[in-house]
Amino acid sequence: MAGDPDLRTEKHRGHWFEPVADHLGAAYLRYSFTKGTVQEVDFLLGELGLEPGMRVLDVGCGPGRHANELARRGIEVHGIDISQTFIDLAIASAPPLATFERLDARSLPWSEEFDAVICLCQGAFGLMTDNDDDQLVLCGMAEALKPGGRLALSAFNAYFAVKYHDGAEFDPSTGVSHELTAVRDESGVQIEVDLWTGCYTPRELHLLCAAAGLLIDRISSVEPGRYTADPPSVELPEFLLFASRPR
Ligand SMILES: C[S@@+](CC[C@H](N)C(=O)[O-])C[C@H]1O[C@@H](n2cnc3c(N)ncnc32)[C@H](O)[C@@H]1O
Repeated sequence: MAGDPDLRTEKHRGHWFEPVADHLGAAYLRYSFTKGTVQEVDFLLGELGLEPGMRVLDVGCGPGRHANELARRGIEVHGIDISQTFIDLAIASAPPLATFERLDARSLPWSEEFDAVICLCQGAFGLMTDNDDDQLVLCGMAEALKPGGRLALSAFNAYFAVKYHDGAEFDPSTGVSHELTAVRDESGVQIEVDLWTGCYTPRELHLLCAAAGLLIDRISSVEPGRYTADPPSVELPEFLLFASRPR
């Protein structure tokens, strides 16, 4: 059931986003914010110094748009997502170097395995309420990195949410933005769902990364399809953070 942020099933510590993903299916890839994948991957390849043969973990990979694009460039990618519907879509379009599995980002099992970890577009980080999920996810991603490995993480900009996010309720005590929005499946059937987005300031991201043992290399202000190194501002919806696990 979408609508209960505290939903947890015995079966798999279910997440409120799963039924949203089940309804959306492949229609997720019709949303404009998914259309800039090639530019985003071009930018990430350069910034992360990725080369063929390196291994990347994509956390909250959704239908695999970044993972599959990276794999087409010769990078070995493993994508994880809590939505089986999205994992099935990712597998259906996967090139040979991309693999996927359904897994909860709050309990990542890897230690010092990946050259880079990416977590983009509220992929597990930021789809929450006021609990500690994001810290758990960040610590798991830090642990999955080899020493010297790099993290690329996007997070919603709290300043932007306050200034521009009309139609959403921003809770100043938690930094969570709540909106009721309509989503359509592939055949156009519309349902109303609640979405909760954890919003951040650069200072909070610095503090969270420090607690996870990561060193921030840079935080820039970006929007989907326009990843750049522009400094943090109030005017763009997301921050894109690059951090390193110390050697
Ligand atoms: C807005 S989508 C972003 C997907 C993808 N990264 C992209 O850029 O298109 C957020 C994704 O995070 C996944 N997600 C949310 N919480 C998660 C968790 N605890 N573990 C794994 N995946 C999670 C959702 O299922 C969804 O696919």
